[in-house]
Amino acid sequence: MSTEATMEKGEQIYEGKAKKLYTTANPDLLIQYFKDDATAFNAQKRGTIGDKGVVNNKISEKLFNLLEKEGIPTHFVKRLSDREMLVKHLQIIPIEVIVRNIIAGSMAKRLGIEEGTVAKETIIDLCYKCDELGDPLINEYHALALEWITREQLARVKELTLKINDVLRKFFDERGLILVDFKLEFGLHKGEVLLADEICPDTCRLWDKATREKMDKDRFRRDLGNVEEAYQEVLRRVLA
Ligand code: TMP
Ligand code: ASP
Repeated sequence: MSTEATMEKGEQIYEGKAKKLYTTANPDLLIQYFKDDATAFNAQKRGTIGDKGVVNNKISEKLFNLLEKEGIPTHFVKRLSDREMLVKHLQIIPIEVIVRNIIAGSMAKRLGIEEGTVAKETIIDLCYKCDELGDPLINEYHALALEWITREQLARVKELTLKINDVLRKFFDERGLILVDFKLEFGLHKGEVLLADEICPDTCRLWDKATREKMDKDRFRRDLGNVEEAYQEVLRRVLA
């Protein structure tokens, strides 16, 4: 079936905090819709960021295309509209993979480390993807013992994650942005591990290289103002 025949949105099968998923006529493909809704601290703080959905859709498109070119398999098929992209229908692995190049956010708080401390090596944290529990931090033993992922899939996830970090760090650096940390999700499609979800200022910490100004969702989380402006500036640089 050609993708042209699958553009019509079918049934909504999922609604998360920032996105919705719809079926298409092709059971292998879904439409991922980006909302302007923003939440933080396990949805205790709620709001909207004007045109965030449009910005995150376009940033994710650019980054998925970049990663595909670098040999990273992703769920991205193509962008359909301002707020919609066509993606492969995955079975999501219920683990959030967090990569940290610079210590910030929850890790700075948990371990009492000053935000901005450079990590000597790349850090990978795993969280169990479960909204009711607030996505708790886990480790590889939990993930394997509870059969959320196989040993083989975990090895592949880690291999892809480190490669993604290399590609994205260089890409943002060339655009005057420091990739501090970010969150990835993966899923299975016909037995293959694919990068899923989105990559955008909601899921990355990005600091301006010259001024160290925060250019990501921390502006919303921490009430720093100019949230929309920061997202638009990241889009401008990503597309430059
Ligand atoms: P953290 O400092 O709160 O652990 O966040 C680390 C990175 O992961 C940061 O770039 C934001 C991103 N992240 C998400 O994308 N979704 C989440 O639910 C959380 C908690 C963090
Ligand atoms: N999106 C998550 C939440 O609402 C956390 C975050 O991005 O800070 O809870």
